[in-house]
Amino acid sequence: MKQRLLDFLQCPECAGELDLDAFLRKDEHPGLALFKDSQPPTAPAPLQPGEEIWEGKLTCRGCAREFPVIAGVPRLLPSALLAASLREFHGDFIARYRDRFRDLPDPAGAERKRVETMNAFGYQWTTFLQNFDNYRGLFYSFVRPYLAPEDFRGKRVLDVGCGSGRPASVVLNDGAEVVGADISQAVESAYALSAYYPNFHAVQADASALPFKPCFDFVYSVAVIQHIPRPGDVFKSVARTLSPGQRFVVWVYGRREWWYKPIDALRLLTTRLPYPIVRVLSWVCAIASEILLLTPYRVLAAIPVTRRLAERMPGRIYARLPFRENVLGWFDRLIAPVTQYFSRGDVERFYADAGFEQVELYARPDASASWVGQGRKR
Ligand SMILES: C[S@@+](CC[C@H](N)C(=O)[O-])C[C@H]1O[C@@H](n2cnc3c(N)ncnc32)[C@H](O)[C@@H]1O
Repeated sequence: MKQRLLDFLQCPECAGELDLDAFLRKDEHPGLALFKDSQPPTAPAPLQPGEEIWEGKLTCRGCAREFPVIAGVPRLLPSALLAASLREFHGDFIARYRDRFRDLPDPAGAERKRVETMNAFGYQWTTFLQNFDNYRGLFYSFVRPYLAPEDFRGKRVLDVGCGSGRPASVVLNDGAEVVGADISQAVESAYALSAYYPNFHAVQADASALPFKPCFDFVYSVAVIQHIPRPGDVFKSVARTLSPGQRFVVWVYGRREWWYKPIDALRLLTTRLPYPIVRVLSWVCAIASEILLLTPYRVLAAIPVTRRLAERMPGRIYARLPFRENVLGWFDRLIAPVTQYFSRGDVERFYADAGFEQVELYARPDASASWVGQGRKR
């Protein structure tokens, strides 16, 4: 965590200012030393300007809640979710620093679907790490016509649901400073970008309770909101991170076509299976779709008289992408505990209820039904 990030953060519970207590600087953590000796250093040197924090604590001046910084990432989740995440993934941190925290939060009360979502996508984005190349075109197809590369130059932006950092990697190259927020362990994959891009920051946060001051030029979110219970809360939470006139650009699922029904039926089973089994199933589905859909698509698309028919075929977007993107697409579809499909009216209402105006929606033409939207904060 760069010290500069502190200027953008606030308490997710009461919006209070946060104070930083650094336990371990990034350059003090060559990795191996920590594993050999599980004790924290007894007298850490004072933090110098420009040094990054690897482990530490943020304390809210308003409500006195404490939030850990683990593996370079501030964990600014609401209390019950934070507790669920710490218990599942960070027993080692807690064991080492138990005496540095007043009282640890209780996981009781964490919304079950949100915890399942955190765990499922945490697995997805710490497993599928090969899919960065080819993503640039895909990213701009998710935000066109509202965002183009030149919109990012010199801008500070928030990426809501940043996953492994794929969208951020594109817009960092286009000159933005990016804060990537995600509910899951995906933030640890995304954080790796900060080694290459000094303008990248990762924060573990719930999109419905974003821990940011209004400090962004605009906010975007791709392929996220359909997976969050009560999506209207996300729009309201995003509105609090923006100043009047600034934009929130989203890509969300639309009401899917008839052929999506069997996928929804399959999800009733796959969302209950162990993740590695779903991974194998994703390979099977990807191979089947290559044979049954994408090969016929390629043939039909090459013949002028059947081209229009081809452009209505399910899954056609994957014909332009590497096979492993097809596998990832299936895993994403089969694993997500919550998936919702929105009508135009749904998305317009989310924007309006959160105080956005000049709302525009665009039906993405080259893939399954989905909406690209933008609205400006009133
Ligand atoms: C389909 S992935 C998309 C990731 C990334 N935007 C991309 O396009 O590569 C959905 C992401 O949303 C995140 N997510 C789901 N619920 C969330 C919530 N309540 N708050 C923040 N992130 C959430 C997941 O952890 C996951 O990384």
